[in-house]
Amino acid sequence: MYNHPATQANLATLRDRGATIVGPDRGRLASGESGDGRLVSTPVLLDAISGVLGRSGPLAGKRVVVTAGGTQEPIDPIRSITNRSSGQMGYALARAALALGASVTLITAPTGRDTPWGATIVRVTTAAEMSDAVAEAVSGADVLVMAAAVADFRPATVAANKIKKREQPTGTTITLEPTVDILASVRQPGLVKIGFAAETERLIPHARHKLAEKGLDLIVANDAVATIGAASSTASLILADGSVEAQPGQSKDTLAAVICERIVQMLAKRG
Ligand code: CTP
Repeated sequence: MYNHPATQANLATLRDRGATIVGPDRGRLASGESGDGRLVSTPVLLDAISGVLGRSGPLAGKRVVVTAGGTQEPIDPIRSITNRSSGQMGYALARAALALGASVTLITAPTGRDTPWGATIVRVTTAAEMSDAVAEAVSGADVLVMAAAVADFRPATVAANKIKKREQPTGTTITLEPTVDILASVRQPGLVKIGFAAETERLIPHARHKLAEKGLDLIVANDAVATIGAASSTASLILADGSVEAQPGQSKDTLAAVICERIVQMLAKRG
């Protein structure tokens, strides 16, 4: 039914009148056949409604690049080094920016999460791939938010075949080499750069150091152990002027909305 010329003609008329069409999904249909025509899921509908309602919001016309998830650095064809990032914070930020009218590119390491409706999605696996994707996406962008947990080291060599335990009876050693620091390497005049500091000790001094070292406008400092993979976060926002704003414990969705408010303020100051 969805592909019938009459349905398509009606949809075209609605599009011409400015309507936004959400879906359809593919899958099993009421007729018993499979194909295009299913109602999209409720979370996708909610995303779409919030994106459409926010279209003329304070980030309308702004391009925001967000990274999310933990990169995976291969050891051999089936094993990799990664971390416990769930991608939740980055996905929440992408949704919050879309809800304020931004055009959002979400560069995501594998997370298994549903992608936000309306975002341009770039899927990557390694830190090197994320670095290339960020370099391409930030050209012409207004804001970069690095919420991804990027691996700092990767195996210096990747075995062509599965490493066999019987060939390593006493164990094995993996030599690691540093990956590129993506946030530090992006130096684009006018780009608002936001990072996260995941720390297990001396949170604020370490975060301040990263803010300066990576040339950031804002860093979100949080306890790595309590935050990674969790639904909520107790963070402090540190601005380039050195001010520290302690946030209460709150959901990552709420924290994402707070960060986006700061983005609106920073962009307004830049004029
Ligand atoms: N980051 C990055 N590229 C890397 C590592 C980190 O762009 N290779 C970004 C992260 O996305 C985050 C910020 O830098 O926004 C800080 O990441 P974090 O892991 O807290 O710190 P590191 O720079 O890795 O430093 P350290 O390992 O000393 O904590």
